[in-house]
Amino acid sequence: MSNRGNWNSKLGFILAAAGSAVGLGNLWRFPYTAGNNGGGAFLICYLLSILIIALPVLIAEITLGRYTQKNPVGAYQAIRNTWLWKGVGFIGVASGFMILSFYSVVAGWTVGYFAKSVRGQFSGINPAQSAEQFKTFAADPWLQLVLLSFFILLTIYVVAKGVSGGIEKYSKVLMPMLLGILLLMLIRSLTLDGAAKGIEFYLNPDFSKITTKTIIAAMGQAFFSLSLGMGTMITYGSYLSKKDSISSSAAWVAGLDTLIAIIAGFIIFPALFSQGMSPADWGPGAMFEALPVLFDKMPLGMIFGPMFFLLLSIAALTSTISILEVPVAFFIDQKGWGRRKAAYIIGSIALLFGIPSALSQGAVSGLAKLPIVNMDFLSLWDFIWGNLSLSIGALMVAVFVAYIWKSSKAIAEIRVSSPFRLAPLWEVLIKYVSPVLILIILLSFLL
Ligand code: TRP
Repeated sequence: MSNRGNWNSKLGFILAAAGSAVGLGNLWRFPYTAGNNGGGAFLICYLLSILIIALPVLIAEITLGRYTQKNPVGAYQAIRNTWLWKGVGFIGVASGFMILSFYSVVAGWTVGYFAKSVRGQFSGINPAQSAEQFKTFAADPWLQLVLLSFFILLTIYVVAKGVSGGIEKYSKVLMPMLLGILLLMLIRSLTLDGAAKGIEFYLNPDFSKITTKTIIAAMGQAFFSLSLGMGTMITYGSYLSKKDSISSSAAWVAGLDTLIAIIAGFIIFPALFSQGMSPADWGPGAMFEALPVLFDKMPLGMIFGPMFFLLLSIAALTSTISILEVPVAFFIDQKGWGRRKAAYIIGSIALLFGIPSALSQGAVSGLAKLPIVNMDFLSLWDFIWGNLSLSIGALMVAVFVAYIWKSSKAIAEIRVSSPFRLAPLWEVLIKYVSPVLILIILLSFLL
């Protein structure tokens, strides 16, 4: 175990796991998914998904990781060595490649927008110009490829340095800073003219808007945001010490992540509504169109703009690190590769997979609207790997922990480090509620 690396402390684990969870999922993906899916109606489905589906799965993943001390494939194999469970672990590893590929494209945008804000390109901007600015930016093929490569290389660099040296060190200071700047943006956004309409859309649920599509989007968002369903939390749990409480760590991670997503909604919705944009039209660029105008209207916006995009890039980095860590841990543990070699080879492959996503926002028109699905490539990839694959992965983890490994054994592992008084509730959720709901939602969507 010692050569795999360990977190230095429980706080280190919480920060690293929260660093994984908090990222573009909260600030970029959550607001525009909510916007496309009815606002308040989505918010309710999302919060319910977190509480009764995702949080139990989060505890299951961390526990499985800490017990087996392995990457996802190794973790399943250690308990039930059959092709089925090996395959499930392997889908997680594959999802890691794919999520990293499109996620890094958007992460590259945050770096690009950092540069734009430093160069004062938001000053005096109006909503139409801001939308135009994003369009031009996203349609520039070389710029997109440079930003994508830059971001993946940065991720490779940190992961190659290893767990506590790399990942943990960066998470400690930056998360609180991000939260601080978000609170300032929150105040400005809530005091804009027309903010009330955004808040109304966000908080006033229109239940007639809840469809299977809303529900699958909300559940997928819950898994994506908590980094579940592909083994990130199994891998991170495998570095958690036997002294540290799993249940309270999981509660902290889920609480922080949800808080930041909710705040992001309170920033983006008022900003977009006050700019007269209609939520149904929001695409992947929504956040990047809304915020320049907000910063321009904010006191000291020339300072807060760059700070925000820098912190968001870092939040994205602590997430991409955790995504790359899954396939890297797999090749280290199962194939005996060195950490550096694994990080560089896998990162480079993810970079290649990222190219179509990077070119799908205007650079190559065939990728901007794919036939049949009627979506751009990035959105399609996000849906397949970020929603469906994660939901299937989460279902399999729940079934595995509850029935193959057995929930009683998982509870015993959790109780090594904490009393876990909610064990009976968790057992009901992980055995009956989570898997059944995931299955029903997936089936009703697919049929
Ligand atoms: N949760 C992160 C975010 O919200 C992204 C992320 C990190 C992720 N690791 C993951 C998503 C594993 C799915 C699976 O930005």
